[in-house]
Amino acid sequence: MSVEDNKRLAAEAAVQEVRDGMVVGLGTGSTAAFAIAALSHRCAAGLRIEAVATSEASTAAASASGIIVRDFADFATLDLAIDGADEIDSRLWAVKGAGGAMLREKAVAAAARRFIVIADGSKLVQAIGAAKLPVEVLPFARAFAVAQLENLGAAVTIRPSYCTDNGNLVADCRFNAMTDPPALAAAIAAIPGALGHGLFLDEVDAAYIAADGVTTRLGR
Ligand code: A5P
Repeated sequence: MSVEDNKRLAAEAAVQEVRDGMVVGLGTGSTAAFAIAALSHRCAAGLRIEAVATSEASTAAASASGIIVRDFADFATLDLAIDGADEIDSRLWAVKGAGGAMLREKAVAAAARRFIVIADGSKLVQAIGAAKLPVEVLPFARAFAVAQLENLGAAVTIRPSYCTDNGNLVADCRFNAMTDPPALAAAIAAIPGALGHGLFLDEVDAAYIAADGVTTRLGR
């Protein structure tokens, strides 16, 4: 079974949790796209929901597939959010943001009463930290923020020719070893001009991971 098939299976399993009347957060990326497709099929079959989306791309995909998409700015809480990840471990710590949407994704995940990660088995790791950690950076503070990230031990690359949906830069950070993710998350959050990062340590309630056609749920 292909990686794409496993992404689809994980997405379809998570979408089974969606119930009539929910407001659902839609993630960004190739796995989240399978969730949007599965949700669209359920809406066509009569499911009544509203959604908010974590990127302009997901807003366009969801709207085009018949899902009612609202402005997240109008919602203090959501019922459920479903999104992909670049890495996730058994503690449900995740790294996200390869698609550059981590700032909106973090807000939507935090607002959701339940946040589910969906992934193919290649994303399940013993300990997060090998993937690049994206940090959204205010262009005005670019050199300062990069220097601060380097002080934290990161090898930093500003994503070339890239601008987030919020009009900002992405600093992709590689660490030799991510020994203390909570301390790192706090240190990055304290950098003026670093607007958000891809470490999701408190948000994930459950993960559906599909490998070789078998979907496993981690968490509650
Ligand atoms: C988007 O910014 C990311 O957080 C994605 O959710 C993450 O990179 C996973 O993407 P894929 O499902 O495409 O691997």
